[in-house]
Amino acid sequence: VRRIGILTSGGDSPGMNAAIRAVTRVGLNSGLEVFGIYNGYKGMVEGYIEPLTRETVGEIVNRGGTVLGSARLPEFKDIEVRKKAIHQLKKRGIEAVVVIGGDGSYRGALSLTEMGINCIGLPGTIDNDITCTDYTIGFQTALETVVEAIDKLRDTSNSHHRCSIVEVMGNRCGDLALWSGIACGAEIIVTSETGFDEEDVLDRLRDLDLIRKKKHAIVVISEKITDVDQFAKKVSLNTGFSGRATVLGHIQRGGSPCPFDRLLASQMGEKAVDLLMQGIGGQCICIRNNEIVAIPIEKALSMPQESRKPLMNLFERLV
Ligand code: F6P
Repeated sequence: VRRIGILTSGGDSPGMNAAIRAVTRVGLNSGLEVFGIYNGYKGMVEGYIEPLTRETVGEIVNRGGTVLGSARLPEFKDIEVRKKAIHQLKKRGIEAVVVIGGDGSYRGALSLTEMGINCIGLPGTIDNDITCTDYTIGFQTALETVVEAIDKLRDTSNSHHRCSIVEVMGNRCGDLALWSGIACGAEIIVTSETGFDEEDVLDRLRDLDLIRKKKHAIVVISEKITDVDQFAKKVSLNTGFSGRATVLGHIQRGGSPCPFDRLLASQMGEKAVDLLMQGIGGQCICIRNNEIVAIPIEKALSMPQESRKPLMNLFERLV
């Protein structure tokens, strides 16, 4: 392999830039030429591809977002669209690609590999919803953002005898809610795994107010479960707390990556380049038990989401 490409795809996440830098620098230092593919698969199809140098990836290890830009391209499922993308790569002599993104991006990477372009996937998403890896690039930084926000909400909720209902991202994965809920000492955590029994949550809030005499309550809830504004109204009507909803939204996706994410991204980037140089594709990089390993993308995509029961049990014992 002489020329490789790199792209970021799907929702951005803090640490993507550190991964771009690692792939580029490790690639160049190994004698490869490295190309940046802009705006995800969209840029691949459109031929928005430019060489990356040591300098173009300078000053980015600490920056959030992705200097390559990102996009979602559902049309990439279409083989004709992928053929166009491969034509653009071949025109430039690019034989292999590192794809940083979530599971949707992995599917594209697998299809390209099957069509002769070796691809390696790196898990770039704040959701931590890629089961094969203990952590995705960006999760820890997003977690820090969420924790900082909830700590602030706790102060003001406490002053006003309020219940803060905090909606966090996760796209059907409850990790951001669960990890932040434990770290912030939340009273209640709701995720797709716990399920949402509205009456039960209201009961528990009444108990926290009347029996436990709590001055505030924090409910951390994963997105896409319920309308938190409506639920906050029900809290005000049915419990002694006055309810306030906060949707943290895209603030969770930005910010300077924490050291863990920068290191994780750098280690994963290195592993991806090493595999491509060995002529290996169709794999994704994971961190498992503190070790950077690769597994087939096909296997990664078929793994069911891991149960978080032990952490849920811990949470219940801390309340
Ligand atoms: O996958 C990352 C993520 O931020 C999810 O947590 C969220 O559901 C989704 O992307 C939001 O997507 P968009 O930025 O397209 O609104």
